[in-house]
Amino acid sequence: MPRNLLEVKSLRVLYKVHRGDVKAVDNVDLNVEEGEILGVVGESGSGKSTLALAILRLLPKTARIADGHIYYKGKIDLARSPENELKEVRWKEISLIPQAALNALNPTLKIVNHFLETAKAHGVHDRKWVVERASKLLSLLRLEPDRVLKSYPHELSGGMKQRVLIALAMLLEPTMLILDEPTTALDVLTQRFILDLLKDLHAKTNITMMFITHDIAVIADIADRMAVMYAGKIMEVGDVYTVFKEPKHPYSIALMKSIPSLTGSVEEMRSIPGTLPDLVNPPPGCRFWPRCPHAMDVCKKEEPPVVELKPGHLVSCWLHARR
Ligand SMILES: Nc1ncnc2c1ncn2[C@@H]1O[C@H](COP(=O)(O)OP(=O)(O)O)[C@@H](O)[C@H]1O
Ligand SMILES: [Mg+2]
Repeated sequence: MPRNLLEVKSLRVLYKVHRGDVKAVDNVDLNVEEGEILGVVGESGSGKSTLALAILRLLPKTARIADGHIYYKGKIDLARSPENELKEVRWKEISLIPQAALNALNPTLKIVNHFLETAKAHGVHDRKWVVERASKLLSLLRLEPDRVLKSYPHELSGGMKQRVLIALAMLLEPTMLILDEPTTALDVLTQRFILDLLKDLHAKTNITMMFITHDIAVIADIADRMAVMYAGKIMEVGDVYTVFKEPKHPYSIALMKSIPSLTGSVEEMRSIPGTLPDLVNPPPGCRFWPRCPHAMDVCKKEEPPVVELKPGHLVSCWLHARR
């Protein structure tokens, strides 16, 4: 049986805004198994980045974890850990490459100094060790360490910077990597290349990954299991093969239909009608019902239960509930 490295239980994260609370992550249950690549997919605004930031408690000040637990290795509850415990987990146990991190590299620092500063901030002062480890990681990501370490961020292409960020995230030998839309800002060919590198990296190191994207085609390519998120909720979880072959949630089905098929014409590519609900006042019942072609009365009134269709394949939908 695979072991759960991370167990998110009944997690609720709210952002305070003048109209009330944005229910960005609402009662989310999700496990990350040791050594797997878990894909998290959903339209922009589904709560994916909020979930990632909550795991390492890097949320902005207006956000709060209102409820739930985030168990790491079955013992530490990151939702409640004091700051000193979190400091031991960030970078050393779990590393996050935040969304849009490409622009976050300090333009006045050479790449080598990014590695040295990161190490120093976590109490590692051995310069030789840092440079050796950085060089090894950069080579693994098919960059020339000597040239790249001496460069300033602006001297590198987007794809090179993304690889530097991956190497930086892995500097202190974490067990788990959270990548939030790591390929979104890149052109299609560079995206492909980074995905291949990540797969290769995973094969060589067996590092656990949580890979976040709005692009379901990317999930098919890289992930072992996937979770479909919509409006702050997990709609469906399962292994990638099962969810692609037999998606059960109407939202997952709609996402699948948005992928252009290799043989199909561009017109076949459909986007999902309607927009994400207001998360300050979400609709009662299932959050997808206003856009769901199969919405029934119960969907508009009561939250759907989580139904296990077969081991590991979970769907949160009244259509599949035994009543
Ligand atoms: N700092 C913030 N203040 C208020 N609302 C926010 C903030 N950040 C995100 N949100 C809202 O939380 C919801 C989830 O956002 P996010 O986690 O960024 O989704 P995703 O990463 O899936 O695009 C959205 O409705 C978004 O507008
Ligand atoms: Mg995001």
